[in-house]
Order: sequence, then structure tokens, then C-alpha cells
Amino acid sequence: MERQTTRISPADIVRQKEFCDQIAERLAALPQAPLAYVDTYGCQQNEADSERIRGYLREMGCGFTTDENEADIIVINTCAIREHAEDRVLGNVGALIHAKRRHPGQIICLCGCMAQEPQVAEKIRKSYHHVNLVFGPHALWRFPELLYRVMVEGKRVFEYTDEPGSIAEGIPVVRQGDVKAWVSIMYGCNNFCTYCIVPYVRGRERSRLPEDVLSEVKELVEAGYKDISLLGQNVNSYGKDLGLDMDFADLLEQINNIPGEFLIRFMTSHPKDASQKLFDVMGRCKKIAPVFHLPVQAGNDRVLKEMNRHYDRATYLDKVKRLRQAVPGIVLTSDIIVGFPGETTPEFEETLSLIEEVRYDALFTFIYSPREGTPGAKMPDPMPMEEKKANFMRLVEAQNVISAEKHAAYVGKTIRCLIDGKSDEEGCALTARTPGNRLVRVEAGDERLIGTFQDIEITSANTWSLWGKLTQA
Ligand code: SAH
Ligand code: SF4
Ligand code: F3S
Repeated sequence: MERQTTRISPADIVRQKEFCDQIAERLAALPQAPLAYVDTYGCQQNEADSERIRGYLREMGCGFTTDENEADIIVINTCAIREHAEDRVLGNVGALIHAKRRHPGQIICLCGCMAQEPQVAEKIRKSYHHVNLVFGPHALWRFPELLYRVMVEGKRVFEYTDEPGSIAEGIPVVRQGDVKAWVSIMYGCNNFCTYCIVPYVRGRERSRLPEDVLSEVKELVEAGYKDISLLGQNVNSYGKDLGLDMDFADLLEQINNIPGEFLIRFMTSHPKDASQKLFDVMGRCKKIAPVFHLPVQAGNDRVLKEMNRHYDRATYLDKVKRLRQAVPGIVLTSDIIVGFPGETTPEFEETLSLIEEVRYDALFTFIYSPREGTPGAKMPDPMPMEEKKANFMRLVEAQNVISAEKHAAYVGKTIRCLIDGKSDEEGCALTARTPGNRLVRVEAGDERLIGTFQDIEITSANTWSLWGKLTQA
């Protein structure tokens, strides 16, 4: 198989760290300790990328803030998945002009998926003069070098060249918490679903080497992390580009063999690549959380074909059946797009009947948003927005009933949950997650339990969450 992936050499990363040192020297001249603000939009992949950006910023000597007015460096890590997401980012970036007026030395950077879109980068160049640096996901590993150029040359820097993509190991990381961690196992996507911008902004599928993934997970477990999410746009095709005798199911099994009490999650799985082998491994491996996010997108075969999804309704339903046989009681979630170009209301009703048939625990629902450069954006789209919105509401309402029923079935059960945070809400001291990732609000309990697994008796439930109490309070 043709391998276009560039593996960034350790020497290149050392060089980036040298840029960090040089930036640190410059920042040390400021009257106060330098502060950075990293604002993240979009999916977990972006969260994971922001942890690397923070890693570099820490090497530059920065502390962190969430107040744009006190930040010396602002990094906005953006998402391009829907127009609404882009509009929100542009609004917020526009508003940063006020912070910059008060603090003229401030450096504003825009990165992530929007930054990889040439028309967005051009818009920033023309109309958002207060933004100093624009770089796409491909250039993330070179962030220190790009920032250094902005500082030394005093010029705006734009770096969004299209490329198949690279893999860089050894970038420093500042993780957001100490209970849950993201681990990217692969980058990019080869699927080109006709509505989706991701393959254009994130490049081709490329997998990290298994030994790199395994050693990162081992370190996390040794450091006390309890909930580890493996990330990729389509984790089921992990390893296909490596030419090794190893696939995603094998990788999961090896991670499961790492000693310690922890949970492994993964997202996202493309239904066409979800294999019986994977289902069997999930049934066998106790550390793999019993939850599966299997985006279906639509319930009608013609629409699925137009979306270029490479499966039909019957194949999808068969996979769900086999998954449930392999892992009884597994929590199932999905993504759905309403109003794909040309979808009729009777076709949409097949999505409704599909969700009634599958009975997902939860759904992520979206109204189709045309993305420039994707085939979908050129397809005739005659349905008025009011009709799409009405269909969307029918879907949400149908799912709310199912989610509430699914949650009600937990009441009275005692479940071993991971306590993952504290809460200031009334009647809730701690938050926890079931192995299937349902949110549990725990009435009372000591903060020191955060990061431990505890038995919780579920006392009540609604559409979105569960309530419970510790059995050994
Ligand atoms: N790689 C993942 C999904 C990434 S995007 C997968 O294949 O499942 C997350 C979700 O956003 C998608 O599953 C889809 O439901 C939704 N989405 C993607 N592009 C969209 C668009 N143009 N309009 C509306 N929703 C979209
Ligand atoms: Fe987008 Fe499809 Fe790739 Fe998911 S699999 S990222 S929806 S192109
Ligand atoms: Fe958005 Fe990019 Fe993720 S477009 S959903 S941040 S891969």
C-alpha cells in the first residue's frame, strides 16, 4: 500500500522545543509572568490537539487563563463541521479586537479545522487584522516555529498548505484533567461522506504505531488515569495503513491487557468497518467500556447511498444485533443528520422508524449544513428549512421518550461508576459515569473520591441523566 504519511523525526520535535526556549526567553522580558488562553471548539480530536498546544505553551513558560483580557497569547482551536460552528468562532474572534486594543502586545492565533479551509484563512487575512497567526491541523506540530516567526518578524503568518498529513510523536502535553484522558490513535479520514468537511481539513487516514499508543496508555494508567478514550475519525480502520498484522480489535485487546483498574473507550466507529472480531473482543475484554457510538446518519437506503456511507439499513441493523449479542446491555449512541439534500419527509420517517427499532440510549442530532467544497453542497436541496426543522423536532421528541425510558430502567440498580468530578448543583455533590458513560449525579460524597470507582445505587432518572447515592457513604 502506498504510504504518504510523513513521520516527523524526533530531531524536528527537538527543534520545535528549541523555538519554545527562544520564545520563553522573550516572554521572560514581560513585566509579569506570561499567560495563555486556549479556547477549543469541536470534537475530542480538537480537545486532544489543544492539550498539545498547551504543552508547547507551557514549554514557552506560559501559565494559563480563561480571561482573554489578561492573556498574552490567545489560541482559538476551531471546528468547521457546520456553518453554525464557524459563525460562532468568527463572532468570538471578531470580539477579540477589544481585548487586543487594551493589550496591543497580545498575539492572537487561530488554528484547527477552519484554519485549514483556504476561504476562511483568506477571510481572516482580509477582515480580521488583529489575528497574527493562522495554522491548520497539519502544521500543529510546528506551532512554536510559527509563533516565533510572528514574534521576531512582526508579520502575520498563514500556514494552511494542503497535504496528506503527518504523524508527530513526542509533542509535550498538558492534559485537562487527571481522571480522563484522550489518546489519538489515528488522524484524518478517507471516507469522504458527501456532507462532511473532515477529510478535506484533516487529511488522509494515518495510524500511530501500536507501540507508541501502548506506551502512552501505560503511562496514563501508571499516572492514575481511569478513563481512557482512544480517538480517531474512524477507529475501525486503525492499522490499515501500517502494513502490520494488527487491526483495531487487536490494539484494544493489547490495551486491555495493561494491568490496572481503568476503562477504555473509543470513538468514532464507521458502521461499514465495525467487525464481528471487534464485537467479540468487546465481549471478552472487561476493561473496554460497554458503550458503542455507531453513527447511522439516516435510515433510508437512497439517502445513505447519496451520503456515500457504504452500508444500508439492513446491514446496519444486523451489526447492531450482533453487537448486542456479543455485549448484552451495551449502551448504544448515534449521530443523525436531518435534511440531507434531497431527503424527503417519507425518507426521513425511515430514520424515525430506525431509531424506534434500535432504541439508542442517546442521539446526537444535526440539521444538515452545506460545507463548501463537499459534493453535498452542490446537490439540489429543495426542502424548505421549516420542514427540516419540523422533522428534526419529531426526531428529538421521539428520542427523548426512548432516552427517558432507557434511563428509568436504571432506577433501583447498583452500578460501579467512576466518580469524575464535583458539582455545585443543588442536591448533587459529585458527578460520576456509568461504564456505559451515562451521567450520574451523586447526592452526597467526599471530593476525595474523585478518580475512584464506587458502587452507586440509582435512585431516579430523567431523559438526560441519572441520580444516585453511594452505597458506602
Ligand atoms: N467521523 C465521525 C463523525 C465526525 S463529525 C463519523 O464518521 O461518524 C460528527 C457528526 O457531525 C457526524 O457523524 C455527522 O452526523 C455530523 N455532521 C458532519 N457533517 C455535517 C454537516 N455538513 N451537516 C450536519 N451535520 C454534519
Ligand atoms: Fe466525516 Fe464520514 Fe469521515 Fe466521519 S467518516 S469524518 S462523517 S467523512
Ligand atoms: Fe470539527 Fe474538525 Fe472535529 S471539523 S468535529 S474539530 S475534526
